[in-house]
Amino acid sequence: MTRSTIPWWKLAIPLAAAAVLGLLAVTGESGKDIAESESIRQFLHNHWQTPIPPQGDPPAGFSELEASLLPESCGSCHPQQYRDWRGSLHARAMGPGVLGQTVVMERSDPAGARLCWSCHAPLSEQQPVVLQASTAGEQLWVNNPDFDPLLQRHGLSCAACHVRGHRRFGPPRRAAPDETGAVDEGLPHGGFTAEPAFSRSEFCKECHQFGPDGYALNGKLIENTYQEWLESGYPAKGVECQSCHMPQRRHLWRGIHDPQMTRSGVTITVAETGGASSAGGQAEAVLTVTNSGTGHLFPTYLTPRLVISGRQLDSGGREIGDTMQQMVIGWEVTLDLRREIFDTRIPPGESVVFRYRKIKAPEAHQLLLRVRVEPDYFYERFFRALLEGDSAGEGRELIREAWENARSTPYTLFEERITLRY
Ligand code: HEC
Ligand code: HEC
Ligand code: HEC
Ligand code: HEC
Ligand code: HEC
Repeated sequence: MTRSTIPWWKLAIPLAAAAVLGLLAVTGESGKDIAESESIRQFLHNHWQTPIPPQGDPPAGFSELEASLLPESCGSCHPQQYRDWRGSLHARAMGPGVLGQTVVMERSDPAGARLCWSCHAPLSEQQPVVLQASTAGEQLWVNNPDFDPLLQRHGLSCAACHVRGHRRFGPPRRAAPDETGAVDEGLPHGGFTAEPAFSRSEFCKECHQFGPDGYALNGKLIENTYQEWLESGYPAKGVECQSCHMPQRRHLWRGIHDPQMTRSGVTITVAETGGASSAGGQAEAVLTVTNSGTGHLFPTYLTPRLVISGRQLDSGGREIGDTMQQMVIGWEVTLDLRREIFDTRIPPGESVVFRYRKIKAPEAHQLLLRVRVEPDYFYERFFRALLEGDSAGEGRELIREAWENARSTPYTLFEERITLRY
């Protein structure tokens, strides 16, 4: 890839303007929406060049605080966004699981490491090595003079989404949604550029959607969240990724790791269907999980899974052997991502039905129905395999820490006890 030596943000404005004017000339009035999406597309194309070009020298007159890219610096003036972000997974995007792999790759396979960083730590200042020259079949990687290890640890930080060439970009103010472009008014950091793309799902697409040539399994891209959203009923209702994941612009990004968020996305109902006699009778129940509020497949990635189970309990609440039955919701694949085992993820509006049906044990008193969420199911297995296979190398301690973390995330989403009356 070649990059122009003219900083892109100087090109962006004329390009976007040309796109808008060109389209308006052709399509007239009804072209407003088309022109808007074209200018959003163009903005995002420029915005998400990765690695994000070095910010360069700060403009004259910037204080040290305004020049700093560290999230805690932004946080001294934007405390709410900082607090929210710090608790989010975006802030932990360079946690031990990623770092443990990239510390090894940055020497053995720097191009591969850079691919990881393009989503997990996309600022140039976060990347220890840079590609200095690339000729036929030959790449020259050198230490990056701008590298800041502290900033790297901050993962997907404020500046990666908001700062280019020290200039701030953000959504239009809520009180002035139509005011786009430069807002100055003598504000700190020279004001900001108001850009409607920030409020659109397309903003998230760069990292939550593989391109058409991305890695696919059984004909399905392994990251397809934006496309799933596009095919749901949500776009027509004006419900963007931000509507659910950044309510009131809060920087929360809660997802499957958060029980309350996951509960908001599904409806779980139980119907008791049993009624047979106690002699050789059946214990039966039907549990239905409906994707009633998730804007994509539930769940969207192959990494988490949900385990639905039913088991009979005696009057002391103890599980009775051989009465367990279970079903998994998720996209189960082999660890090398080469083979799909099954895919039971639930599209928006659809349901999955679990039918418990087993002979009622003589001492059975209750039927326990449970839905467990294992947010890091794939990673738990993956990190364990790295440790067992002894292939983690220098990243071993980090991978061990990541494995411990991945083991600690499961939670119970739903539980109900049905008393067996017969
Ligand atoms: C010295 C205080 C200060 C610091 C430090 C600071 N900001 Fe700001 N920022 C402001 C003020 C004040 C505004 C204007 C808010 C308004 O009037 O709407 C603003 C506006 C913004 C906006 C535009 C908000 C919108 O409505 O779209 C963004 C985005 C932003 N800052 C990001 C950052 C980031 C990222 C950093 C750190 C790299 C940072 N700021 C550091 C004070 C600061
Ligand atoms: C520059 C890349 C990038 C962009 C842009 C981005 N994300 Fe993320 N997102 C990530 C990465 C990487 C993670 C995983 C972090 C980790 O756990 O290591 C993540 C995690 C998440 C999670 C948490 C998932 C969970 O497992 O609980 C949610 C929700 C999310 N992102 C939503 C969004 C939304 C909504 C947007 C758009 C406003 C967005 N992201 C933009 C890279 C990105
Ligand atoms: C296209 C964007 C993208 C790229 C490229 C990418 N990731 Fe991720 N990664 C994500 C998102 C989004 C998540 C969160 C969703 C999930 O759990 O699958 C994630 C989650 C993870 C996690 C689990 C969470 C954690 O922090 O422990 C690990 C480990 C990880 N990625 C490692 C890597 C490595 C290593 C590479 C490079 C080989 C890489 N990723 C490349 C987007 C990306
Ligand atoms: C993953 C990308 C991402 C990261 C990281 C991120 N933001 Fe934002 N930020 C957004 C998006 C998207 C919006 C607009 C949301 C909307 O319009 O619904 C936004 C909005 C804002 C606003 C305007 C808020 C308002 O109420 O009008 C400010 C200020 C801001 N961000 C500052 C920060 C600061 C400070 C950090 C770090 C602590 C940060 N952002 C981290 C994507 C990000
Ligand atoms: C209507 C609300 C809604 C919309 C719209 C929505 N999400 Fe979600 N999202 C959820 C809920 C609820 C969860 C938790 C349940 C789950 O994981 O499916 C979730 C989970 C996630 C996760 C966690 C990982 C996983 O495997 O599920 C990521 C990443 C994510 N969303 C990204 C996005 C992106 C990117 C968009 C826009 C393209 C988006 N979401 C649109 C509600 C929404």
